[in-house]
Amino acid sequence: MADQLASLYSEEDAKLLRAATDIETIIEKRADWDETVHTVEQNCDTIFTWDYEQARPGLMKLYEKAKTSQWNVSTDIDWSIEVDPERIASSAPDPRFAVMQNVDLSGTPFGKFGEKEWTELNVESQNWMLSQFLHGEQGALLCTAKIVETVPWIDAKYYASTQVMDEARHVEVFGRYLKEKLGGEYPVNAHLRGLLDAIIEDHRWDMTYLGMQIMVEGLALAAFGFIHSMTPDPLLKEILRYVMSDEARHVAFGVLSLKEIYQDMTAAEIRDRQEFAYEAAVSMRDRFLQQEVWEKMGLPVKECVELAFVSPTRIEFQKMLFSKIVPNLKKLGLLEGWLREKFADLGVLQFENAPDTEIEYEAFQVVGVSA
Ligand SMILES: [Fe+2]
Ligand SMILES: [Fe+2]
Repeated sequence: MADQLASLYSEEDAKLLRAATDIETIIEKRADWDETVHTVEQNCDTIFTWDYEQARPGLMKLYEKAKTSQWNVSTDIDWSIEVDPERIASSAPDPRFAVMQNVDLSGTPFGKFGEKEWTELNVESQNWMLSQFLHGEQGALLCTAKIVETVPWIDAKYYASTQVMDEARHVEVFGRYLKEKLGGEYPVNAHLRGLLDAIIEDHRWDMTYLGMQIMVEGLALAAFGFIHSMTPDPLLKEILRYVMSDEARHVAFGVLSLKEIYQDMTAAEIRDRQEFAYEAAVSMRDRFLQQEVWEKMGLPVKECVELAFVSPTRIEFQKMLFSKIVPNLKKLGLLEGWLREKFADLGVLQFENAPDTEIEYEAFQVVGVSA
């Protein structure tokens, strides 16, 4: 495979081919289709503060915004809009992008695919992706509830409590869309579950923020923006518009909070944070390969994951999802030295001068904007 496809790659991406031997370990981690309860042990301190002084104007401004930006899944979303997944799938971007576009697929599991199969793949891929958003939203719900307990600042506890409500709403809205309009959801991808576990297991409160508010929510904000601009489904568009307005605030919350404590950290402490961010980035760029879709469609999982893993179009798409993460890491002072080199290898430094979310979050607001 590597030899056959090597000519498709830039030198930078060719490095990925060498990592293709990881495919076995990627597919070894499988989703549990029957799991309904998943337990994660955490060893963190719950912090009271008796200092009620609101010392952080940026967080208080965000908190005031959050209080007037609440929306209601039951009444603000027009659930009467009908959704036809196949019609949407047939007008969605070419599903070949995830499995090697512009390449002769004969001899691969997709060799005999006709229009019907490609449409089915698009329907399943869309369902899979929205299901992972649903599970990720639950991760955000739990992480932010944890932040309420663990962050030592009263103004951050106030703000985080509004985010808990926001995330409950997001779980509700994606859950309802999947159930009522797409007929059910996929289980959580094992690599996403592993990432969420790693974030919630860490006892240091800033790691919850870094993993969730900066990495996962940063990726979600970019992904939602992309789907919002591409989907022909007016209902999904409406949902994403609302969710994005909340998510931008959440990412800004992470940047505002972490900026303050990272200023005073030692080089060794910063390096720990950089490694954590890098591990999350690798997971998000190269591990979310919809293996459950191949499984459900009865396709050979290993071959499909192998194709998806080395697909240049997929890699380009995944890189685009770092457009929010990279400028925010830079704002936090983490995009230096070791991490800068690692992100250069991942090919995502192109976004370092994009606007950071602390600056741009108000542009996303849809509720409580006076005319
Ligand atoms: Fe969310
Ligand atoms: Fe969020």
